[in-house]
Amino acid sequence: MVMAMANSATILTVVLALIGLALLRAAAPASAQNDCGSCPPGYCCSKFGYCGTSFDYCNGNTCQSGPCTAGGAGSGGANVSGVVTDAFLSGIKSQAGSGCEGSSLSFYSRRAFLSAASSYPGFARAGSEADGKRELAAFFAHVTHETGHFCYVSEVNKNNSYCNSSNTQWPCAPGKKYYGRGPLQVSWNYNYGPAGRSVGFDGLGNPDMVAQDPVVSFKTALWFWMSNAHQVMPRGFGATIRAINGALECNGENPAAVNARVGYYKEYCEQFGVGPGNNLTC
Ligand SMILES: *[C@@H]1O[C@H](CO)[C@@H](O)[C@H](O)[C@H]1NC(C)=O
Ligand SMILES: *[C@@H]1O[C@H](CO)[C@@H](O)[C@H](O)[C@H]1NC(C)=O
Ligand SMILES: *[C@@H]1O[C@H](CO)[C@@H](O)[C@H](O)[C@H]1NC(C)=O
Repeated sequence: MVMAMANSATILTVVLALIGLALLRAAAPASAQNDCGSCPPGYCCSKFGYCGTSFDYCNGNTCQSGPCTAGGAGSGGANVSGVVTDAFLSGIKSQAGSGCEGSSLSFYSRRAFLSAASSYPGFARAGSEADGKRELAAFFAHVTHETGHFCYVSEVNKNNSYCNSSNTQWPCAPGKKYYGRGPLQVSWNYNYGPAGRSVGFDGLGNPDMVAQDPVVSFKTALWFWMSNAHQVMPRGFGATIRAINGALECNGENPAAVNARVGYYKEYCEQFGVGPGNNLTC
């Protein structure tokens, strides 16, 4: 794919995407106790990251993942399907480089996103309608950066296996690689393992599912988002950068990547008609 690139704008996109490959590498493994990924199938993950089946865990206004109940009448946040329109997604895709495969653009469909989002009733539905729209703007800002405007399904450089073999809770399967895949380019065995367990696929044995099934792919991104970024949204967009790739970008490590993410976020907030809030950088 890289070899086929022709013009400098496309090369810039690739360079930005490669910078983006830093991605979730540095994301720390969440502690087992507060990790929605450790909830068994059929269990809800509460606001505080604990697993259970009662109302306290499954209450649709706070529940993060699992079989959450629908939010109550007039429950908070944004109307996800009303905000994330075909026009919004097409606007992002239209900026993908000319060398980008059509198949990756169609892989990231609105239908797959909405199907996956219906499993995460807490996503973009906390707080006010404006808060919900800011969360959608933030999520798609990171997705735009990580995938090069929906160009990449899998990380370009597949040489690194992203296997942390000292992590015994989520042991790597022989021959499998855990490089970035999907909307947030989730990486590392310690993310694929719990993502698969929560979403319902064999994340360690079959990480390629995240590059093959669009709904599983969006669910994996939303699992990561709900486990790491959703709860820091009230602190501002900068906190979500820290949650996703803080060690490699924050504290002056990579201002270009931070500025790119912030630029997309402000653009999408404007499209959704909300202010971006404070503390945008990290
Ligand atoms: C959400 O938006 C969709 C699409 O525009 C619309 O059909 C639906 O009625 C809206 N739902 C609510 C609760 O406003
Ligand atoms: C990946 O490995 C192949 C084979 O060893 C090598 O030719 C290629 O340059 C490597 N790619 C990167 C980006 O390191
Ligand atoms: C690898 O896992 C060990 C044990 O969980 C942890 O201490 C270490 O920080 C991890 N290293 C990386 C690069 O994630």
